[in-house]
Amino acid sequence: MLGLRRAVAALRPAVASAAAMSTLLVSQPRYAWLRELGLQEENSGVYNGLWGGGGQVRAAARPASLEDYEETVKKAKEAWKVWADIPAPKRGEIVRQIGDALRQKIKVLGSLVSLEMGKIFVEGVGEVQEYVDVCDYAVGLSRMIGGPILPSERPGHALIEQWNPVGLVGIITAFNFPVAVYGWNSAIAMICGNACLWKGAPTTSLTSVAVTKIIAKVLEDNKVPGAICSLVCGGADIGTAMARDERMDLLSFTGSTKVGKQVALMVQERFGRSLLELGGNNAIIVFEDADLNLVIPSTLFAAVGTAGQRCTTARRLFLHESIHDEVVAKLAQAYAQVRIGDPWDPDTLYGPLHTKEAVKMFLDAVEQAKQQGGSVVYGGKVMNRPGNYVEPTIVTGLPHNAPIVHTETFAPILYVLKFKGEEEVFAWNNEVNQGLSSSIFTKDLGRIFRWLGPKGSDCGIVNVNIPTSGAEIGGAFGGEKHTGGGRESGSDSWKLYMRRST
Ligand code: UN1
Repeated sequence: MLGLRRAVAALRPAVASAAAMSTLLVSQPRYAWLRELGLQEENSGVYNGLWGGGGQVRAAARPASLEDYEETVKKAKEAWKVWADIPAPKRGEIVRQIGDALRQKIKVLGSLVSLEMGKIFVEGVGEVQEYVDVCDYAVGLSRMIGGPILPSERPGHALIEQWNPVGLVGIITAFNFPVAVYGWNSAIAMICGNACLWKGAPTTSLTSVAVTKIIAKVLEDNKVPGAICSLVCGGADIGTAMARDERMDLLSFTGSTKVGKQVALMVQERFGRSLLELGGNNAIIVFEDADLNLVIPSTLFAAVGTAGQRCTTARRLFLHESIHDEVVAKLAQAYAQVRIGDPWDPDTLYGPLHTKEAVKMFLDAVEQAKQQGGSVVYGGKVMNRPGNYVEPTIVTGLPHNAPIVHTETFAPILYVLKFKGEEEVFAWNNEVNQGLSSSIFTKDLGRIFRWLGPKGSDCGIVNVNIPTSGAEIGGAFGGEKHTGGGRESGSDSWKLYMRRST
């Protein structure tokens, strides 16, 4: 079980004074709204039709035991037998109801995301909105997915491709999007006819519990097994069990490239299927003809939004040498106007990092950047205030291939680099291991089409005159190379949650 005190202990040390720690949050008037999400003093981190397991308050990261896991997989497999028989449009109707239930709780759930993850309130609400949107998308899809009937070369024969659900989809999500990424996966997986088993990040378990309570009520009201959307809160032991488990017909993993590689190898060893959403090292390229009125706010949003903790965060900014100094000066001015504060305050644009370890990673990266020849022209320090606050940071003067520039640090550090021409800068965009998101700012149509084409950006997300982050649910979300190659959410990503029977 998870105590509600943990949410503040990790993220809001200002609140987590000794006195606050001795009283569980949910018992304090300021946090009474947590009860609207069904949260109590102690919360079970396991759902498989019944809330249970977990047993006792233990280390925060391990609320589900391997026995709980085993029981939950069995129940999810049983639940699948019922779910797979329900016609897809009826499954879509249940997903529609989940979307409506989320709409009703969007503000409280967004608040919990903000409390537990540390992102600002509007971003917390924004990611619940993404879940709502993907539910709508999935409802439509539930009446549209299908395969072709092809001309057979043999008389009197039919050649059909039918799509069937894979069965049980394991979903492992990261701390930075504790609602949306589960939503992208589960809404699509559900209309395809799969059961889901979710493990969220150990540091955002209350959000996992609150989301699952909303879904569980819809499933139970519709008299279908709750285990269709099972939950096992836990850490690496549960994640490893999922990766090795032959019964996990698809494992969707969002997280670091390092852990993703281990997951991919474990799944591959059993010839299982995985869908990977791993790290990014996303660049914005600004040509000399770009509209700087778009470039400055876009770069600010992409580099500083969510305190640099999106996989789509802009980490490299390539500026044409003729506009380099002007853009750096304007960007520094814009950085100075970012309102830093309590993530719950509606005026705040920038909150704390998620953990103390993240603060350490930030400091290490700034130090390495200096050692490798960079100049910190904005920020660079930990802020003198309670909580994991670091200054949004701009570093100039590094070579495009400095080791730190090629490293994804999950913190708000932007490396600004100078370029001379299109060919070299497209190559620099593509020279990193990761291939998630990328943007150019230009008015040159020929250049835009070269950027979109075979010799342009090698990323999964290729933007023009908009930032690297803020991808919509309607497109296929994901990236190439060390980003893992998976695609989630819109377009034809649903095919990854199904098997084709020809
Ligand atoms: C992530 O950072 O893990 O593009 C997902 C965006 C979001 C999704 C980011 N829609 O910013």
